[in-house]
Formats: sequence, C-alpha cells, structure tokens
Amino acid sequence: MPLLIRNARILTLALPDVSGPRRGKALRELGIIPHGEVLVADGRIAAVGPKVEAPADAEIIDAAGRVLLPGFVDCHTHACWAGDRLDEWEQKLNGAAYLDLLKAGGGIHATVRAVREATQKQLAAALRERLGNLLRDGTTTVEVKSGYGLNTEAELKMLRAIRRAASDWPGTVSPTALLGHALDGDPEDYPRMVTKEMLAEVSREFPDIAVDAYCEKEAWSVEACVRLFEKARKHHPIRVHADQFNSLGMIPEAIRLHARSVDHLEASTKADLIALAQSPTFGVILPCTGFHTDQRFAKAGFFVDQGGALALATNCNPGTAPTHSMPLAIALAVRFCGLLPAEAIVAATCNPAQLLGYTDRGSIEVGKRADLLLLRHKDERQLAYELGGNPVDTVICGGAVIR
Ligand code: NIG
Repeated sequence: MPLLIRNARILTLALPDVSGPRRGKALRELGIIPHGEVLVADGRIAAVGPKVEAPADAEIIDAAGRVLLPGFVDCHTHACWAGDRLDEWEQKLNGAAYLDLLKAGGGIHATVRAVREATQKQLAAALRERLGNLLRDGTTTVEVKSGYGLNTEAELKMLRAIRRAASDWPGTVSPTALLGHALDGDPEDYPRMVTKEMLAEVSREFPDIAVDAYCEKEAWSVEACVRLFEKARKHHPIRVHADQFNSLGMIPEAIRLHARSVDHLEASTKADLIALAQSPTFGVILPCTGFHTDQRFAKAGFFVDQGGALALATNCNPGTAPTHSMPLAIALAVRFCGLLPAEAIVAATCNPAQLLGYTDRGSIEVGKRADLLLLRHKDERQLAYELGGNPVDTVICGGAVIR
C-alpha cells in the first residue's frame, strides 16, 4: 500500500547543482522543505514536495511538523563478533593501553579466539541481534567488516555469517573483507600469506567485496598494507584504517592507490589531512572510539574546511566502540571533532552512501529507495543535541514502516 507522510520538515539532502560527495559548504546544505509531503510506493520515493498527489488508499503518517530525513548509512563497523571484552575494558579503566593489550595477545586477538570458537550460525545470530539494534536507532544501511578470523577458514566463516544475517534484515548490509586487521605470526610472513593465499580465496567467493587493513604499530605496516592493496585493488575497492594512534605515512599511499576511504584520522598530521581533503578519497571519522578509549578525536572541522569528503560512522566493535548508535556518533562528532549539526547529518547519510557505492539512497528524491527516519523533534539540531536517548521515532526501510 502507498504511504504518504505529511506535515513534515523534510531534509531532502538533495542539491540541484551538486553531484558526487558533498564537500566544503555543500556539507552544510540539507535541502530543506520546511513543510512538505513524501509519497512512498513500491519501496521507492514516488513524490516529494510542499504538496504531492496521493492515491485515495494511501496509508497516512502525520509528522506534525517533525523532521523527516534519509536513513543513516553507517559506513564503518565491526558488528560481527563473538564473546566480549569486559575484562580488558576494566584493565583499560585501570590504565592499560589499547596497543599494549594487543601486543600482549589481548584486544583484537581475544575476539579472534572467540570468533574461531563460534559457529557460523552463532556469529550470524549475534550479528542479527545487532542489526536489529542498528535499525531501531535509524541505520538502514550498514557496512560490516570481517577481520576477527586471521586465517582463511575463519575469515570466510565470518563473511558467510555476515551474508546470512544480511539476507533476512530489511536494511542493506555492505560487507568488507578486513584481511589485514592484526598479525597472527611473523610480521613479514603473515601478511605475505594473507596477500598470496587468503586474498585469492576471499576473491573467489566474494568477487566485488571491499578489502580493508589496519595500518598501525603492532598491526600492519605501511609496506604490508601497500603490498596487499597493490594486489587487491585490481578487483576490489580498497579502504584502510590509518592514524588511529600513530601517523605512519599511510595517507599518501592510500591516495596514490585510489583507496575509497581512510578511516580513523585521530593522529593525522595537518599536511596529511590537507592532502586527503584534496583527493577523491573519503575521510571517515569514528568519534565513539575516542570517547570510549582515550579522548583523542579527528580534526574533522579542519578536514572539511580544506574541502575534504567526510563521512561519519559508529565503528561498532567490542574493543573501541561498543555502540550501534549513529545519533551518538553525530552528537560526539559535533562536540569533539569540530562539526556543525548539518555537517554531521550529511556525513551520516548521503556522503557515506556514496562512499559505499550506493547511488539510490542518502537523499529524499523521486526514485530513491524509501529509507526514511521521522524524528521525535521539529528541529534537526536536536539530533546532535540530545545525548544518550534515541531521537528517532519512526523508521521506514525499503518503504516498510519498521517501528
Ligand atoms: O577500528 N583498531 C582496529 N580496529 C577496530 C577495533 C577492533 C577491536 O579492538 O576489536 C577500530 O577501532
């Protein structure tokens, strides 16, 4: 049945003169229809404007002046995992550092042990529950990485679990093969095995999947990442975690290799941020991670001022960001990364949709997928202002009202 949403303050995110990622001032423009209507039919947006024609049998939602915007696109998560990291978290509260725990065989390795022990079915069930939580908080498209397998069998098990859980979720899951997350063995031999053997096996079963790596001390070196990406990029989009704790020189390489994105950026130099901003590669900020770990945040305001294509994500994972909430990521980006509410909204919707390669979402325009959020509020700045609640009242996903 068609659906008509009326009396809404509509953030269309549609700009007539801008195609491609929003940069600079365009990151602040929300394409607002202050009082309008949206007609949804067959899972798509059929009409949008101050007043639209609707069939007599359309179901009606009266927004009563509240804000309607596109569904969130969370473009960086590690939402598929088993076990928990509560003991480690308590150690961190007592002063232990993330990279020291990793070096001592904890951190990512603790989750790797739990993932290896879990069955594919258990991994899919755990992810399914998290996908439900994501959707309730307004995320209708989510990227989910592997990366807790560290051997071919366990990585494939994760990727199959992600595919399984995605198949019965109303939203869209974009999987990523995080083949270079940590080192399981010699720092030279292990990346060589991944680049030679694991990549080939993953490519065979998941030919279009994005390939990612974590460039950091105690994880993958710049040289190991470059070797993996030189090979992977022939068939796969590439992305990289860089400058979380240390600036190792990955950004210039990521630009040279035409990476889709560089994610984290907490420790990036200004010169690297400028170079990234002037390139086609997206910068992705993950403020829930700084909030949970060590109060260091990416200088996103500076990156935007330099003309960078910015996206914002939760980084949902058991070690550095135990959250599925895009509203929380928006609230933190505004408080700690130097963004305005409008910039954070664009970085949570249309820009990450483009990063993930989706041209059919991220804005409210005729023909786009009907992934829509009706807030509890009449002013979109409340999305960034409210802390710790859920500002999303109604989620419409693929044209269906979810809650
Ligand atoms: O982006 N730092 C690398 N990967 C994740 C954390 C994963 C984990 O600690 O389990 C991140 O923060």
